[in-house]
Amino acid sequence: MQDVILLTGAGKGIGKAIALDFSLKARNNPSFTPVLILCSRTYSDIASVAEKCAALGTKAVPIEADIATIDDIDRLVGQILQEFGTIDCLINNAGVGRFKDLSEFTEEDFDYTMSVNMKGTFFLTQKIFHVMEQKRSGHIFFITSIAAEMAFKSSSVYSMSKFGQKGLAETLRLYGRECNVRITNVMPGAVYTPMWGDAAKDLKQVMMMPEDIAGPVVDAYLQPSRTAVEEIVLRPVGGDINS
Ligand SMILES: NC(=O)c1ccc[n+]([C@@H]2O[C@H](COP(=O)([O-])OP(=O)(O)OC[C@H]3O[C@@H](n4cnc5c(N)ncnc54)[C@H](OP(=O)(O)O)[C@@H]3O)[C@@H](O)[C@H]2O)c1
Repeated sequence: MQDVILLTGAGKGIGKAIALDFSLKARNNPSFTPVLILCSRTYSDIASVAEKCAALGTKAVPIEADIATIDDIDRLVGQILQEFGTIDCLINNAGVGRFKDLSEFTEEDFDYTMSVNMKGTFFLTQKIFHVMEQKRSGHIFFITSIAAEMAFKSSSVYSMSKFGQKGLAETLRLYGRECNVRITNVMPGAVYTPMWGDAAKDLKQVMMMPEDIAGPVVDAYLQPSRTAVEEIVLRPVGGDINS
């Protein structure tokens, strides 16, 4: 049976690694035949990841969408349901972060972060949870962060958004338990991805790699459907880099 998996933020970093890990695991497991729907705002990125998945034998469909825009969410979900009839898994991975001193944050920083991490994640999840609730099966992941439960001085707005995502994951789990939908909150520490920009150059040695997060996410999905991996916490072995 085909598993229809929607992965947001699939063009780079952790999302790209999750797409590739699904494809690698499907290659070694003939009973697992995922169709990956890859979403981000940059078509060339997701088209390139889709080609890599196809080279590993997994069908992947790139769909450009900005999850901060409700019209894009409606178009994305509508297109998937029209083409594939259902959605079995949503991985809420798309996210943005701006890091600076409390006094430097502008209204634009605040609105930008919240529109993606909170508003986009909420409305996409709301729409897809409805599909899963109707069919009484599904799995929704939230790639939050350790910043969803720990404070860092440069992360005030990001942390607010990640605490919020964790709040949504925990609320949704109350609904999910009533209709057989699994909810997983994934809380990584520092991962070497484009999100860090130039700051990552000097820190690479003490960070995790995107594939370190992808493996446990895909393994959680592949657990028997009676079992929900509810939380995954992953840290660099030396601990948080800016604690
Ligand atoms: N890297 C870390 O240390 C770390 C640690 C803990 C948690 N996380 C979380 O993990 C997730 C992935 O982070 P990452 O480090 O892999 O980031 P990244 O390398 O910057 O990749 C983020 C992906 O999300 C997409 N995206 C951003 N805004 C979007 C929007 N409005 N609509 C659709 N797609 C959007 C980006 O593509 P476009 O810009 O082209 O749309 C990109 O493909 C985020 O939620 C982040 O908060 C990261």
